[in-house]
Amino acid sequence: MQIVRTIAQTREAVAHARARAESVGLVPTMGALHEGHRSLVRTARQRCGYVAVSIFVNPTQFGPEEDLEAYPRTFEADRSACQADGADLIFAPAVKEMYPGPGLTTVHVADLTAGLCGASRPVHFDGVTTVVAKLFNIVGPDVAFFGEKDYQQLAVIRRMVLDLDMPVEVIGCPTIREPDGLALSSRNEYLDVDQRRQAPVLHAAMQRAAQAALAGRRNVAELIAGIEGDIRESGPAEIDYVKIVDAETLDELPEIDRPARICLAVKMGKCRLIDNLAVDAPQSDR
Ligand code: PAF
Repeated sequence: MQIVRTIAQTREAVAHARARAESVGLVPTMGALHEGHRSLVRTARQRCGYVAVSIFVNPTQFGPEEDLEAYPRTFEADRSACQADGADLIFAPAVKEMYPGPGLTTVHVADLTAGLCGASRPVHFDGVTTVVAKLFNIVGPDVAFFGEKDYQQLAVIRRMVLDLDMPVEVIGCPTIREPDGLALSSRNEYLDVDQRRQAPVLHAAMQRAAQAALAGRRNVAELIAGIEGDIRESGPAEIDYVKIVDAETLDELPEIDRPARICLAVKMGKCRLIDNLAVDAPQSDR
């Protein structure tokens, strides 16, 4: 496995893989790799001849009040994980390599970025789409792998690829959870002991709502009230949003009459947790 820091070295390494007629997979990450990221690398390993992992804590997707400085940086552990999971290349650029000067170009996906996390993180998705577009241009992957945990991010990236005719297949991979249901996240380490005990309520509450929908309760306001009630009962938590949206357009729905997604963001202490779950109408309605 090669570790490179520059765009030029990355292009050269990928060009060698291409010369060997290998398909190229990219797993974009911000490091602090957990089982969720590792499942992406392993899926990439199964599907592609050459697997590149980027590790870059992208400053442009953090708001001024957010945790850019505190974001965990664990390069040695990340390196071992990538090696064990069979990556061929880690691209770990410095900020200056990715942003040598103030960039004048931003990739902005409208509408899909307005709601959910976009409502409280106004610069976030422009930062994500711009850096992912740059990574696609640097690595030139055939396939790129993203977790469903960041459901809105996945939808936004899919749309960017579609609208800009980027020659990349985007694969969404299932969320990996702790045994108690908490979705793995690099930010879980901000949780204290009580918050960690409380956090699985998010998944449990969404599951209850998804089961209720399957049993025929299709009114979204009622389902959301149930989820919010479960969260409030569990202890101190600041609900940013709980929404049920069309699984593709992310439009809010009045009732579950198509494939939908429950999406939520909840702050426990200084940790903002996001999660989502598929929700469907009963089989008989479809
Ligand atoms: O999901 C992430 O870790 C980041 O948003 C990404 C896609 C690597 C872009 O910086």
